[in-house]
Amino acid sequence: MKHRFRAVVAGATGYSGRDLIRMLLRHPDLELVGTFASSSGDAVKLTEIHPQLTGYTDLDCRPFNEEAVKGLKPDLIFLATPNEFSHEIVPKMIETGAVVVDLSGSFRLRDARLYEQYYGFEHTSPGLLERAIYGLTEFVADELPGAKLIANPGCYPTSILIPMNPLMRAGIIDESQPVICDSKSGVTGAGKTANSTTHFVEVSESFRAYNVFKHRHTPEIAQGLGLENRTDNLIFTPHLLPINRGILSTIYIRLTGGVRRTDLLDCWRESFKSSKFVRIFDGSQLPEIKFTANTPFCDIGCTVDEATGQAIIVSSIDNLLKGAASQALQNANLALGVDEGAGII
Ligand SMILES: NC(=O)c1ccc[n+]([C@@H]2O[C@H](COP(=O)([O-])OP(=O)(O)OC[C@H]3O[C@@H](n4cnc5c(N)ncnc54)[C@H](OP(=O)(O)O)[C@@H]3O)[C@@H](O)[C@H]2O)c1
Repeated sequence: MKHRFRAVVAGATGYSGRDLIRMLLRHPDLELVGTFASSSGDAVKLTEIHPQLTGYTDLDCRPFNEEAVKGLKPDLIFLATPNEFSHEIVPKMIETGAVVVDLSGSFRLRDARLYEQYYGFEHTSPGLLERAIYGLTEFVADELPGAKLIANPGCYPTSILIPMNPLMRAGIIDESQPVICDSKSGVTGAGKTANSTTHFVEVSESFRAYNVFKHRHTPEIAQGLGLENRTDNLIFTPHLLPINRGILSTIYIRLTGGVRRTDLLDCWRESFKSSKFVRIFDGSQLPEIKFTANTPFCDIGCTVDEATGQAIIVSSIDNLLKGAASQALQNANLALGVDEGAGII
């Protein structure tokens, strides 16, 4: 019988956990051996929580317990859990010897001091921040085999850094001008628990900016763009869309003299020539949320006003897939040495 790696998901009752489990249940090289959620309550059939999984699994979802996880002898542990919980549990999960893929923000920032400001807690494992691989898969594929801790990127940063990283590296952006990222997300981005600003009546038939100048993803985007020391050159404004899933980012930049749209497209073609999950829109059509919703792709496109050097980059992802679960699985696949797209496409 074919060897399959043993996978565990914590956060199984959440939105990203659900989408991850759906992919794991049809994965040729991974076997889902355990699912866990909050430490309160009893074991419940996974299909009672997610009826759409009926017919695919008989697994229970159990209250999280370190010993129970260790007892399953996992090769791979996904943490689709809140920041504070991941921050506390990651060091213990690493001790199991399994590959740990954390979907929270707790191990994404290299500078531990930023956690107090943006996440509201003091980071107690700065050594792990140095060891964690920031899993923006398309740019770290070579570093993933054998990795032990993967910090899965945030959804907004994924949508911004995928199109922007190659352009920043190519030196074709006028760095004297700010990079302005105007991003919009569906409500699943806030997780399954509604609050007074995310419940149906507040969101439906409206559209608003939120956490302006203080969103947690701001330092992550700055870090990814290499603007940590020039944060005045980055403006990021997140917005809440009255839809379930999807992100559209519109990014405003100024190009250096003489750079044309074809130069941006060529730069992307070269950077993503072996990427399975980045689609370049090189015609007149720009990315839209409906093209990426329920898919593992990041779609990228641009328009350039060659007279002024102004460029507008548009990107789209599904926040729960490329922005969370499918990117986590891409990373896990490469860490374990199996095909990057296994279980995803
Ligand atoms: N939603 C997105 O678009 C998105 C994108 C990228 C990254 N992320 C990150 O991924 C993580 C999960 O996000 P989500 O939106 O899927 O969250 P969610 O829908 O709110 O689900 C959170 C999950 O964590 C579990 N949990 C909470 N406290 C726990 C504890 N003390 N011990 C064990 N399990 C606990 C919950 O279990 P109970 O049901 O028992 O409470 C639930 O299964 C978060 O860190 C989030 O920031 C989310």
